[in-house]
Amino acid sequence: MALAKTPSPSIPTAERLARFTYAIRNIVAEAQRVEATGKRVRYLNIGDPVAFGFATPPHLVEAVERAMRDGHNGYGPSVGLAGAREAVAAEYSTRGFPVIPDRVCMTAGTSEGIELALTAMVDVDGEVLVPMPTYPLYTAVLAKLGARAHHYRTDPAREWMPDLDHLRSLITPATRAMVVIDPNNPTGALYSTATRRALIEIAEQHGLAILADEVYGDLGFHGPIAPLGSLQPDAPIISFSSLSKGYLAPGWRTGWMAIGRSPRLDAVVAAVKKLADGRLCSTVPMQYAVVAALTGDRSHLVRFRHALAERAAVTLECLRAMPGVTCVAPSAAFYAMPQIALPPGRTDEDYVLALLRETGVLCVYGSGFGLPPADGFLRIVFLASPAELRGIYDLMATFTAKYLSDV
Ligand SMILES: Cc1ncc(COP(=O)(O)O)c(C=O)c1O
Repeated sequence: MALAKTPSPSIPTAERLARFTYAIRNIVAEAQRVEATGKRVRYLNIGDPVAFGFATPPHLVEAVERAMRDGHNGYGPSVGLAGAREAVAAEYSTRGFPVIPDRVCMTAGTSEGIELALTAMVDVDGEVLVPMPTYPLYTAVLAKLGARAHHYRTDPAREWMPDLDHLRSLITPATRAMVVIDPNNPTGALYSTATRRALIEIAEQHGLAILADEVYGDLGFHGPIAPLGSLQPDAPIISFSSLSKGYLAPGWRTGWMAIGRSPRLDAVVAAVKKLADGRLCSTVPMQYAVVAALTGDRSHLVRFRHALAERAAVTLECLRAMPGVTCVAPSAAFYAMPQIALPPGRTDEDYVLALLRETGVLCVYGSGFGLPPADGFLRIVFLASPAELRGIYDLMATFTAKYLSDV
C-alpha cells in the first residue's frame, strides 16, 4: 500500500509543559547567543560552587573511586544503601531531628526527593503552598503533576520572612503540603525560630505535611542551621538535602529525604518506597561518599562558609552603592536578591536581558522565581572571587546608572 504523501504534522507535546518553566536554565540560550557575538559572559545564574573553583573534598572523591574499583557498580536497593541511610539518619538525629534509617530514602539530589514526595502526596488539582519567590523546581514539578502551587509571599521589608497571614489565607481543603525553603534560595534568608515555629503550628492546625528544603542547611554564614524538624520532631516534616551544595558535588546528583517519625507520615513513607522502586535506585558509588561526607572530616565547610560570608559582604557593599538598587542582606547560601527601581513599563526580564547584552553579566530575573515582573528583582549568585565580583558589580553599576537615566 502506498504511503500517504501529505507531510505529517509535528508530533504534539503534552499540554502540561506549557506551565513547566525553568528560568535559571532557560536564560542560558540567550547568554549563548551573546557569547557567539564574541562577548565574554559571566554566568551568575547557576548555584554551582564547583563552576567557581570550589573543589569537592578529596575524601569524597576517593570514596566514590574506591566504590567503583571495588565493583559497586550494579543497581542498589531502591531506597538506598543501608550505610548511607544510617549515616543520614544519624546526622539528623544528632542535629535534634530524630529519624530512623527506615524512613530515609536516597535520591538523585534534593530535586528527585522533592519530586518523589510531591508525587506521593499530591493528586491532580491538589494544592501545595510554595514560597514567593520560590526555587522554580516546585512549580515545575507541580505543573507536571497537574497540581497547583499557591504562592505565599515572603517579605523583603522583613528580611524575606514568610507573610504568615497571607499563607493562612491560601489554605483550602485541597491543600496538601507546605514547602519551606530555609535557608532560602533565591533570597539568602534564614528564618527566625519564631517564624519556623509558626510555620509548624499552621501546618499542624491544618493537617499539612511540611516539605523542608534544607539543602543549604550547612551554609549559614555563622554555622550550620538546625533542621526544622528539631523544633517539633512529632510534626509531619520531611527534610530534603544532598551533596550538591555543602559537600560541593552537584554533578553527582546524590541526595536524600528524611521522613519524620509522625505516624501521620506512615502512608507517605510507603508511597515513597513504592515510587522509589519504580526508578530502581539512585547513584550507587556516590552513596559511599554520603557516608564519607557525614561521618568524616568537614573542615572544608568552615572555609566555605567563610568564603561565602566574605562574598556576601562585597555583594552587599557594591549593590547598596548603586543608586536605584536596594538589597536585603543574605544570611546563608550564595544568593542575593537585589531590587532595581525600574522605570514604569519595564520588567525585570527587560533589565536582565539588557544587562546581559550590554555587559555579558548573566543573572536571573525575579519573575523566574514567581515575583511580579514590574517589581524589578533579580537573583545574583555570588560564588565568583571577591575581586571578580567587584569587577562584575562595576559593570553592573555603570549599566544600571545609564539604564535608569535613559527613560
Ligand atoms: C532550594 C533548592 N532546592 C533544591 C535544589 C536542587 O538541589 P539538588 O542538586 O540537590 O537536586 C536547589 C539547587 O539549586 C535549590 O536551590
